[in-house]
Amino acid sequence: METASNPRIRQVAEAFVRHVHAFASEVKLTEREFEFGIDFLNRIGQATNDSHNEGILFADAIGLSTLVCLLNNGNAGATETSAALLGPFWRASSPRTDNGGTIVRSPTPGPELFVTCEFIEASGKPIAGVEVDVWQSSPIGLYENQDETQADMNLRGKFTTDAAGRFGFRSVKPAGYPVPTDGPVGDMLRAQSRHPYRPAHLHFLGFKHGYKTLITQIFVDDDTHLESDVVFGVTRALIGDYRRHDNGTPPADGVSAPWYTLEHRFVMEPGEAVLPQPPIK
Ligand code: BEZ
Ligand code: FE
Repeated sequence: METASNPRIRQVAEAFVRHVHAFASEVKLTEREFEFGIDFLNRIGQATNDSHNEGILFADAIGLSTLVCLLNNGNAGATETSAALLGPFWRASSPRTDNGGTIVRSPTPGPELFVTCEFIEASGKPIAGVEVDVWQSSPIGLYENQDETQADMNLRGKFTTDAAGRFGFRSVKPAGYPVPTDGPVGDMLRAQSRHPYRPAHLHFLGFKHGYKTLITQIFVDDDTHLESDVVFGVTRALIGDYRRHDNGTPPADGVSAPWYTLEHRFVMEPGEAVLPQPPIK
């Protein structure tokens, strides 16, 4: 690699090869295990298509996605951060939705949820004009792209923060869910005796020029899997205050108890606004 002209390629490729060799030496990898590993890699590729990304799922399930996220946010890993892993279910073209509008686009039974978000700088200054994508699973734990009973783009929306850095929306409370286990990642989790569950959460992606794109998730605070998320996504800063309301005046007509509210503040860092590759179409 000495002659590779790009120094970063040289550095990354050299370290990658060194660590892979050290790994094989440490475990004294057998020829059968080597074949098994190559087949596993091939199966990850074969299981990936326009609506499913097994490669991201694999990186998530071994904690690599969260490590890369924490290395690249929070002042390069030095401080607390609002960021979390992207996951395999972001779609780039969520429907534009008015501030205060609903992201429920087909009948989706479950407790209603009213969310208010505020985007600020570390100094506390509100950030107006942030384009924010929101996506979530349904109250039975399925994203619309996994569930034929949901309309296209159900529980997805794109919002813009107002002059006070805020926007709100109406939805239903998400449920936790198992990550897809019908491919090689599922085989890996079973072989490792690990459960496949993620704690319930909402996803957010905030984009504005001059700020590092904020990709994050806000977790439901009473979920039983907060301490054992299969993809290692939970930090204290990402646990939301999902408040249950059993009485009082509902926030909109026709809402019956119990309903939930969530208010959350997101801190964006200065930096380059770059969008990730959408994992699915
Ligand atoms: C998600 O949060 O959508 C997700 C993240 C990692 C693996 C599977 C799903
Ligand atoms: Fe998710």
